[in-house]
Amino acid sequence: MSPLKIIKTEDGSHSLYNQELNETYHSFHGAVNESNHVFIKMGLEHWTANNKGPCRILEVGMGTGLNVFMSAIWAIQNKVVLDVTTLEAFPLDPKTIASLNYTEKLGFAEVFDKIHQSPWGQPVVLNNCFTLHKIQDQIQNFKSTAFYDLVFFDAFAPNKQPEMWTIEILQMLADTMNENGVFVTYCAKGQLKRDLKSVGLEVTTLPGPPGKKEMVRACKKDNG
Ligand SMILES: C[S@@+](CC[C@H](N)C(=O)[O-])C[C@H]1O[C@@H](n2cnc3c(N)ncnc32)[C@H](O)[C@@H]1O
Repeated sequence: MSPLKIIKTEDGSHSLYNQELNETYHSFHGAVNESNHVFIKMGLEHWTANNKGPCRILEVGMGTGLNVFMSAIWAIQNKVVLDVTTLEAFPLDPKTIASLNYTEKLGFAEVFDKIHQSPWGQPVVLNNCFTLHKIQDQIQNFKSTAFYDLVFFDAFAPNKQPEMWTIEILQMLADTMNENGVFVTYCAKGQLKRDLKSVGLEVTTLPGPPGKKEMVRACKKDNG
C-alpha cells in the first residue's frame, strides 16, 4: 500500500501526507500559499530584486513539483530566465501527480505537464525562460558541478528526517552558492540558524507563510 495520501490544505490546494513519516509535503495551512511565500516571494523575488540576469536555482526535494511549477509560472509572468535543478530521491508516480489540483488553482496546465513529463537526468528547455534539470538521487550523493544563485531547501522537517539537515549537507549547499546567493527554507529552528551561520551564511529570520510564525533566509556574503 502506498504510504502517500492526497490531502486538501487550508487554501484549497492539495498536498501529500506521508503515513510512514507522519509528515505532509507542505504546510497544512496552504501548500500554494507556503510555496508562494517561502520560495517565490522571500527567495526568487528577493534575489531578482538585488541581482540581474538569469537565475540558477537548486531545489532539494522536488516532491509534487509545486515549487518548480510556481517558479516556471513566475518566470513566464516576469520574463526572467530561470535554470532550475531539482533533486528528488523518491519521484512520485504519474497517477498521484495527475490527481493534484494545482492547475485548477493556477492554470498553466501545459507547463505543469511538461515539468512532469520531462525526463530525469538531463536538462530540458521547457520554454524560452525556463530550463529544468530533474535529478533522481539523494542529496547525500549530490556532487554539484555548477554554482547556484538560489537554493530552495524543501526537505521534510528536521525531526522527521534529521539526515537531510546535517552540517555536511548545509556546507555542501553553501559551497555551491554563488556570492550573493540565497538559501530559503520554511524551517526556522534555532539549531538550523546556528548551523547556517557556521557554514558561513548570513541568516535572517523572516515572517513565515500563513499559519507559521517564521522562516529563514540565509545569504552568501560578497567577499569582494
Ligand atoms: C517536503 S517534501 C518536498 C515538497 C516539494 N518541494 C513540493 O513542492 O511538493 C520533501 C521531499 O524530499 C524528498 N526526499 C526525501 N529524502 C531525500 C533525499 N535523501 N534526497 C533528496 N530528496 C529527498 C521526499 O521524497 C519529498 O519529495
